[in-house]
Amino acid sequence: PSKHKYVLIESHDKVGLITLNRPKALNALSTDLFHELNDVLEKFDNDPNVGAIVITGSERAFAAGADIKEMVDKTFAQVYKKNFLGDWGKINGIKKPIIAAVNGFALGGGCELAMSCDIIYAGENAKFGQPEIKLGVIPGAGGTQRLTRAIGKSKAMEIILSGRNFTAQEAEKWGLVSKVLPVDKVLEEAIKLGQEIASFSQPSIQAAKESVNQAYELSLNEGNHFERRLFYGLFSLRDKKEGMEAFLEKRDAKWTNE
Ligand code: CAA
Repeated sequence: PSKHKYVLIESHDKVGLITLNRPKALNALSTDLFHELNDVLEKFDNDPNVGAIVITGSERAFAAGADIKEMVDKTFAQVYKKNFLGDWGKINGIKKPIIAAVNGFALGGGCELAMSCDIIYAGENAKFGQPEIKLGVIPGAGGTQRLTRAIGKSKAMEIILSGRNFTAQEAEKWGLVSKVLPVDKVLEEAIKLGQEIASFSQPSIQAAKESVNQAYELSLNEGNHFERRLFYGLFSLRDKKEGMEAFLEKRDAKWTNE
């Protein structure tokens, strides 16, 4: 039996699947749930048989946000001293690609969790939003930063200041999600994408993820420099030689992840 109460884990041929499982609260992201999520993310990140990770929820809700019941009585001093939501940042240190397979509500912290993943696939019924303004607060897990970088200032302002939800179709049009799929296909397609990613050499996948993420941190010049250094670094791998030789010999590469 799993030691986790709020997340289910499965392996699908090199893809580690994490299902948020707090259905009565629409997967509200309590501190306990997040601890478990971080724990399994780290476990998959350290598992050499896993090449990509998928996070999903239910058809009704990916996650309806941080747990409002947990927050309602907290004071400034408590959240400040305890660095409340601080460990939500751990997902940013995961080296393997993470795909969010989103159906239903991805609101507040749920939207922020999806945006913390590397790729978002959404079901036709998915509803995104940052409704924190309706609770008298603002997004607190990166919403103002990630949504703005993803969809631009005017749209991000409109969404965050009005608290209105937006649809999967809008999210795709604005570039926040890469694909909208029928509800019953989202997870399957996310796993398939994860398997495709996991079929490549892990160090180059890791480097690609790291380099794309630096596009949000560095100037263009510094970013290009960072990329070039990683590119050169990959020439030290057996897999670089194997990949290029396989191409020239018109055969499939046999990766060793070394
Ligand atoms: N925290 C705690 N419980 C939640 C929750 C949340 N974020 N979202 C839903 N629930 C609970 C409800 O309280 C309800 O529990 P009870 O049965 O005990 O009353 C249960 O889940 C089902 O929810 P509803 O009855 O409300 O379901 P609905 O279909 O009528 O509405 C919904 C669905 C529109 C998603 C609505 O639940 C909702 O608006 N949820 C809150 C969304 C929100 O404000 N999220 C932002 C949270 S703040 C945040 O995330 C801060 C941050 O940036 C990190």
